[in-house]
Amino acid sequence: MSKFPKNFMWGGATAANQLEGAYQEGGKGLSIADVLPGGPDRFKLVDEPDFDWTIDEKHHTYPNHKGIDHYHRFKEDIALFAEMGFKCYRFSIAWSRIFPNGDEKTPNEAGLKFYDQVIATCQKYDIEPVITISHYEMPLNLVKKYGGWKNRQLITFYERFARTVLTRYYKQVKYWMTFNEINSALTFPVMGQGLVASNGANDKQNIYQAWHNQFVAGAKAVKIGHELDPNLQVGCMLLYATTYSYDSNPVNQMATLEQNQAFNHFCGDVQVRGEYPAYTEKLMNKYGFSFSDLEIGDDDLAILKTNPVDYIGFSYYMSSTVDVADSSLEQASGNLIGGVKNPFLKTSDWGWQVDPIGLRIALNELYNRYQKPVFVVENGLGAVDKPDKNFHVQDDYRIDYLREHIEAMAGAVADGVDLMGYTPWGCIDLVSASTGQMSKRYGFIYVDLDDQGNGTLNRYKKASFDWYKEVIASNGENL
Ligand code: BG6
Repeated sequence: MSKFPKNFMWGGATAANQLEGAYQEGGKGLSIADVLPGGPDRFKLVDEPDFDWTIDEKHHTYPNHKGIDHYHRFKEDIALFAEMGFKCYRFSIAWSRIFPNGDEKTPNEAGLKFYDQVIATCQKYDIEPVITISHYEMPLNLVKKYGGWKNRQLITFYERFARTVLTRYYKQVKYWMTFNEINSALTFPVMGQGLVASNGANDKQNIYQAWHNQFVAGAKAVKIGHELDPNLQVGCMLLYATTYSYDSNPVNQMATLEQNQAFNHFCGDVQVRGEYPAYTEKLMNKYGFSFSDLEIGDDDLAILKTNPVDYIGFSYYMSSTVDVADSSLEQASGNLIGGVKNPFLKTSDWGWQVDPIGLRIALNELYNRYQKPVFVVENGLGAVDKPDKNFHVQDDYRIDYLREHIEAMAGAVADGVDLMGYTPWGCIDLVSASTGQMSKRYGFIYVDLDDQGNGTLNRYKKASFDWYKEVIASNGENL
């Protein structure tokens, strides 16, 4: 008997702003991703006190503008996914293709037509689309004019966007997610909430207010989806970093529990259980405000309660290790949520701590906490690939990484976890979200494009392409 269920959804994942390019075609408006400079300093640059959300081509590059030109090559790309045997393909709909400024009353038909074609191409190959409604690409105007997600008016704009795409596609698309990595705002509020230092990111109350608005908006999307078709599956999407205490010192154990509450569990608790967890007040008091200071609409809590998500999608790249007792311990540089270096783990080229067993633990923690199906919608190794003269990449390091994580998933299934599927990140090379680099590659498919935008954009199969094809064909038996 296979280690994975018969209908296990093997596939891959991308996001519009990181691969489509064509950033001003088909009536698309600017999104926040379009003003993020390329390069490892992008988060630092946008947090400068005078950052004003403008494109400054004199001093910076903007790799998202061109992406990998998927907008014009999606047919070729999806055909390659089909060749690998993908059962599903997770992608996002660029909000600013549908509502260029975010606050229009009527959608941009050209944008919808583009996704009509993407979905039709998936269907041609029997690939199930899995759509992220909002993946780090809100219309720029919603940030400049309204101040990002801390403004309650965004609930209305998102609801309109969600209703538009759900209504248009619900007959072809069963699986949806509301917000990509919603909890990442605790440390990186720019991409998910449109908040940087110059518009309030340093005040944590803004981040929690923005979350509240997103929770309500997401619950409304769940409601719309279920009204259209009760069988629609609308999930949340979390960035999950399994969190360990550095040692058995109770002080570190307690700090670990608190980090789990603040980062891994808070957003999931609200979206899956439909109510704020008991520790909410404590989290907020830490930053000098109270739940009662938030702007909460009359019906908000009822909307949350009656519209919990159907499943938990999450990304998993790394674990985190907490120590608050010994200040001499080395910090884990590169890890998205900080922490100290775990002496038992290797790190990726970008310093992320690689931990396959941590994925098995994550799956157990999430499933046992919520008893709802879980879906690994991102995982993978960002690495520097070195193609030979024929553009072949022998990426055995990536195969090893993925194999170990798939084995960990098999372990979790044996533990009794209800696991829906696996969509490794960046199944075709694309622009990195945190560093804006092309050189940080995750794909099974190599794209000839460098950090400066040079290259033919031709696609080449890496060694991992054939390997993953066999993994899917054998339903995870041949690793
Ligand atoms: C997740 C995001 O954080 O990780 C993706 O949902 C992102 O958008 C992926 O690309 C990998 O991170 P990075 O920074 O290496 O691109």
